[in-house]
Amino acid sequence: MSQNREQWGSRVGFILAASGSAIGLGNLWKFPYITWHNNGGAFVIVYLIAVILIGWPIMTAEILIGRKSQKNPVLAFDELGGSNWSLIGWLGVLTGLVILGYYAVIAGWTITSFISCMNWSMNGYTAPEEGAFGEFIGNGKLQLLLSFIFLALTAGVISKGIKKGIERATKILMPILFLIIVYMVIMALGLPGRNEAFSFIFSPDFSNLPPSGILEAVGHAFFTLSLGMGAMITYGSYMDKKESIFKNAALVVILDTVLAIAACVIMYTIIFSVPSVKDSISGSTVGMLFITLPNLLYTEIPFGTILAPVFYILVGFAALSSTISLLEVIVSLLIDKMKMSRQKATLIGAGTTYVISIFCALSLGAVDALSSFSIFGPGKEGVLSTLDHLASNWMLPVGGLFITIFVGWFMDQKIIQDEVGKFNDDGSVNFTYNMFKFFIRFIAPVAILAVIISVIFGKDFS
Ligand code: PHE
Repeated sequence: MSQNREQWGSRVGFILAASGSAIGLGNLWKFPYITWHNNGGAFVIVYLIAVILIGWPIMTAEILIGRKSQKNPVLAFDELGGSNWSLIGWLGVLTGLVILGYYAVIAGWTITSFISCMNWSMNGYTAPEEGAFGEFIGNGKLQLLLSFIFLALTAGVISKGIKKGIERATKILMPILFLIIVYMVIMALGLPGRNEAFSFIFSPDFSNLPPSGILEAVGHAFFTLSLGMGAMITYGSYMDKKESIFKNAALVVILDTVLAIAACVIMYTIIFSVPSVKDSISGSTVGMLFITLPNLLYTEIPFGTILAPVFYILVGFAALSSTISLLEVIVSLLIDKMKMSRQKATLIGAGTTYVISIFCALSLGAVDALSSFSIFGPGKEGVLSTLDHLASNWMLPVGGLFITIFVGWFMDQKIIQDEVGKFNDDGSVNFTYNMFKFFIRFIAPVAILAVIISVIFGKDFS
């Protein structure tokens, strides 16, 4: 246990690790494609509202639970609420397994993108033929290999403990990722498709948004902020008592959101500027990050030839800092509860996850039965999409709902006071404290419940 309770090594340690967990394929791969799929505008607004009303309070609540208990999610709920509440922790661990299972498959694509970019940078860029991406994801053996490599990388870092590996690396790589994204946004703004892209992202038309789209926006707020399954509880458990939870939570939420919007601005500007790109993504919006971007980098952006391979290393790294947080939730439970060594726990956690990855990797065209498997209807066929939909739109919001109910209504309220501070220096009650209490008790649970109920009774499960 003592090994597990090491703290972040520096003051910025938590911010780096938590934003590393939050910023990942959710921002760069998933948000642009689900926003596209849900017709932009209104979807983005609902997503932003969800981030503020639900994301911020739950982020704060999870960090608070972690820091107070200094334990993994299962034991944290057990300690603060008793064994019934620890079921939320178990649900979180299960959700983590499911997400990591398919996330590793997508993350594996960054490896091949990097290799292609190296090749293009040295030998000149040739736009991939239409259908090339479909062929790539349909190559079962390759998908199995790539997801295996990615899980092995994740396991490698986790087995060493997180402080020396991930914290040190994120310190250098996250700032570079930010700089490259800023550079790409500035360059994209010079393209002719800019206005169309902006109106797609920012002018809402609510008649375009089905109830399932609202659930998807809320679900994505959970997914992109790594909430609802205990990742932030785990990371909060390594946080120094002197740090301000409010400030840290707000900063992670802001960084993550800015990055998601930036990714949309970049991708849509290209889509609206370069007609050939629009054709190639129409069949597979899922591939935006992997089809659309290389085109921009090699044809429109100064120094793109140098930037492209670097960019995909960074995307891979952003994904890795997310998979690490997912695996850490599972591994820290095995260590704390089953008293395993970190090495053994890592092996078992990653091995179990890979079983799920196998089904996902073969569900993109390689094995028909897996590729056509469907619970949620058109557009969500295949094991990978089904699990993604199930985890982000149902498991995370339900987990999050219980977290709000626990912290707002059942947990000893003095803990909140101790962890975030209730009073200003002049003895008056802190405004943020009041706001947090109001949000966690009323706003967030009611919002999540309303969305879930409206989808169930709207009979729109897709
Ligand atoms: N937030 C990560 C992303 O956006 C994914 C993630 C979800 C990580 C849940 C941890 C827990 O890519």
